[in-house]
Amino acid sequence: MNKYLVRASMVGTVLGGAILLKDYTGGGNCPSKATITGQTVIVTGANTGIGKATAMELAKRGGRIIMACRDMGKCENAARDIRGKTLNHNVYARHLDLASSKSIKEFVQTILKEEEKVDILINNAAVMRCPHWKTEDNFEMQFGVNHLGHFLLTNLLLEKMKQTGNARIINVSSLAYIAGDIDFDDLNWEKKKYNTKAAYCQSKLANVLFTIELAKKLQGTGVTVNALHPGVADTELGRHTGMHQSAFSSSVLAPFFWFVVKSPKQAAQPSVYLAVAEELQGVSGKYFNSLKEKEPAPHALDEETAKKLWEESAKLVHLQEALRECNLL
Ligand SMILES: NC(=O)c1ccc[n+]([C@@H]2O[C@H](COP(=O)([O-])OP(=O)(O)OC[C@H]3O[C@@H](n4cnc5c(N)ncnc54)[C@H](OP(=O)(O)O)[C@@H]3O)[C@@H](O)[C@H]2O)c1
Repeated sequence: MNKYLVRASMVGTVLGGAILLKDYTGGGNCPSKATITGQTVIVTGANTGIGKATAMELAKRGGRIIMACRDMGKCENAARDIRGKTLNHNVYARHLDLASSKSIKEFVQTILKEEEKVDILINNAAVMRCPHWKTEDNFEMQFGVNHLGHFLLTNLLLEKMKQTGNARIINVSSLAYIAGDIDFDDLNWEKKKYNTKAAYCQSKLANVLFTIELAKKLQGTGVTVNALHPGVADTELGRHTGMHQSAFSSSVLAPFFWFVVKSPKQAAQPSVYLAVAEELQGVSGKYFNSLKEKEPAPHALDEETAKKLWEESAKLVHLQEALRECNLL
């Protein structure tokens, strides 16, 4: 054989092997083929990354998709892209800034007015390791957006989801919850020195504890709630970290990362699985690492901490007042 053909076939074999390995490290596709025609899905932070890929996958399965994002320009562009690629025209861009309780209440009021039902809520949006920023309501940004924003949003949508029946709530957490600690003495980092990593880990632990407590409260309602770690994915999540911006990581480490880091589409599979799989009907209060159910670490299962976090969160977001404002009490 001509030496160029031999080289070409070797390169082909290596590339083929690399792609197979990449599929393996990607954690696999959602095994369910279920369609969700007629079901209404809300995905927060759906303009990019895992959220956009989740919205795309669920649009392919026939859902009515509401993309809830803070930047309407990015949201409309992403919605247009998804409509074009899936030919599902029931994909809508709606404004939701999780760093503002005013915006959350306005979003909920629009949903309550416009939507007959809400079958699936995917609490996906997050900010990671940003500077010591505050939300409009003066909460530390990562705790405020990742936990408190979704806590308020979910509570305001609960009645609608109970009326829908067999509805599912999915909280996108992270393996980072393991290093998390809930500091009830200073939830909003007002007393101690700010640590961007610890603040992210606290917010992701809060996602799991919220799931545990909400599942208890939802027993017998037909609504389920589960949490997941999507795997490590190549998204914009690292935008506030030096890693993401350095020439070293984007050139030297990039080929290595390509093997071990999932694409947004691969990382969306766990959210899609928890949203659609028939075999998960009725499964609630669980944590999934990619597509597999996994027992969370003991500190994420602590019932007293979960209850206390619920009570503190309800106070911070003025839950009763918010329910009244949305005519839910
Ligand atoms: N990527 C990973 O390796 C990884 C690993 C473990 C867990 N996760 C989790 O996966 C989820 C998705 O992350 P990703 O990797 O897809 O990150 P991403 O690409 O940065 O996307 C995050 C999304 O959240 C939105 N968002 C941020 N602040 C918001 C706010 N105040 N209101 C509404 N939306 C807001 C962003 O909107 P803008 O574009 O407008 O900022 C964006 O749409 C997160 O919960 C993250 O913790 C990711």
